[in-house]
Amino acid sequence: MAGSRSWGFFLTVCAVSLYGASAEIKFTIPVGKLFTYELMRETFQNDFEPLSKLYAGRLYDDPMMFKCNRQNYPDLPEWLRFTQRHSYDNGFLYGTPTSPGKSIIEVYAVNKRSYDTTRQILVIKIVPEKVLPYQAEFFIKLREIEKVLPSSVQDEIKQDLQKLWDTEPLEIINITNALDRGGRVPLPLAGHFEGVYVKVGSEQYFSECLQKVLTPEHQRQCSTGAKVRIPGGCNFCSIPSNCITWCKIELFDLTQQTPTPPPPTVGSGIMEAGGDFYPPESPPSRDYFPDYLVTVIVPLIIAILLCLLLAYIMYGRREGVAKRNARTNQIQLYHHHTIHGNSDELRQMSGHRGVPPPLSTLPMFNSRTGETPQPLQSDSPTVPLIMAQHDPYSDTLPR
Ligand SMILES: *[C@@H]1O[C@H](CO)[C@@H](O)[C@H](O)[C@H]1NC(C)=O
Repeated sequence: MAGSRSWGFFLTVCAVSLYGASAEIKFTIPVGKLFTYELMRETFQNDFEPLSKLYAGRLYDDPMMFKCNRQNYPDLPEWLRFTQRHSYDNGFLYGTPTSPGKSIIEVYAVNKRSYDTTRQILVIKIVPEKVLPYQAEFFIKLREIEKVLPSSVQDEIKQDLQKLWDTEPLEIINITNALDRGGRVPLPLAGHFEGVYVKVGSEQYFSECLQKVLTPEHQRQCSTGAKVRIPGGCNFCSIPSNCITWCKIELFDLTQQTPTPPPPTVGSGIMEAGGDFYPPESPPSRDYFPDYLVTVIVPLIIAILLCLLLAYIMYGRREGVAKRNARTNQIQLYHHHTIHGNSDELRQMSGHRGVPPPLSTLPMFNSRTGETPQPLQSDSPTVPLIMAQHDPYSDTLPR
C-alpha cells in the first residue's frame, strides 16, 4: 500500500518535471512573412499562482514585465522585436524572418507585485519560402504598434488592403512602428498616434488603384505637401483608424529589380613582396628666429615701455608731502592728523585684547601736548571716565 503511494508520488513528480521541462511552444514559420506572438498576461498569471483560483477563489491581475532573449544570448535575434506598452498590457513578439534557421527564444515574465519569475521557451523554426514579387507598404497614421499586432486587427487591415489590391491572396510581410523609422514621438494628447507601417505582398500585380501611385500626377500632388484625398473608388477603409495615408504608399516590384552587383573579390590577406622600406627624408630645417622676434621680443619691449611710462606717471610727477603740507591751512591739517591718529589707534586696539585704554578716555588728557597723568590701574568698566579726584564720596562708588 505504502509502496504504491510512493510510486504515485514519484510518477507525479516525474510528470510535473516533464511538464516543466517540455513547457516550450513550437512554431514553424516561413521566411518573409510577419510572425506575431502575443505574450498573454493571463497565461503567465496562472503559472505564478496556479492554485489561487482553485483554493482562494481569487484571480490576481498583476502587472508584469517581460524579458525576451535568444537562448544563451543577451538579445533577441535581429529579425524579432518585442513590445509592451504598459505592465498591465500583453506583450508582443513580432518580426519577419529573412533567412531559414531555428531560433530558441526565452521569455521571462516578472510579476511586479510578488516578484515571482516564470519562463517560457519558444522554438521557432523558419522554413524557406518564395519571396512575393509585388509588395507595397502603407502608412496607418492613427494607430500604434500594439493596437495593430492582435490578429483581429491585422485581419481588418488586411481585408481593406485586399479590396484596394483587388486580390484575395495577400500576405502581411512586415509591421513596423513609425518611431523605428525616424517618426516623432507624438504629443500626449488625444488624436495623436505614433503611426504604423504595414507591408503586404502578393503574387498578383498591383491593382488600378495602386498603379495611380506610380503616375507623375500623384507624385506632383504629394510633393506639394498638401493633404491629398484618396481618389474616389479607391477608398476602402471601413474603420477610420485603419485608414492609410495615400501619399505614403510605396510599391516594390521585385521582378524589376536590377541584379545586385557581385561582391568585391577578397584577396589572400597577405601583401605582395615589394622591395625594402625607405623612410621618407626629414624635412628641410627652418629658421625660427624671425618668428621668435615677433612673438616674444616685440611684446616684451612693448611691456617694458609701458612699465616705464607707468612708473614715470606714478613716481616722477608727484609734488611731495612737504610742499603740499606747506600750502595747507593749519586747522585743516590738524583736523586731518587727528583723524589719522584716531584711526591708527583704533586699528592697534582691534589687534589685541590687553591694550591700554584709548588716550581720549584718560582724564585730563591734553591732546595738544600729548601730556598724560598717571594712567589708571584698573580697567574695570565701572570706573568713571573722568575721575572726580577730590570727591569725598568717591570711595562709595562700586568698584
Ligand atoms: C521589417 O521592418 C524593419 C523595420 O523597418 C526592418 O528592419 C526589417 O528589415 C523589415 N523586414 C523585412 C523582411 O522587410
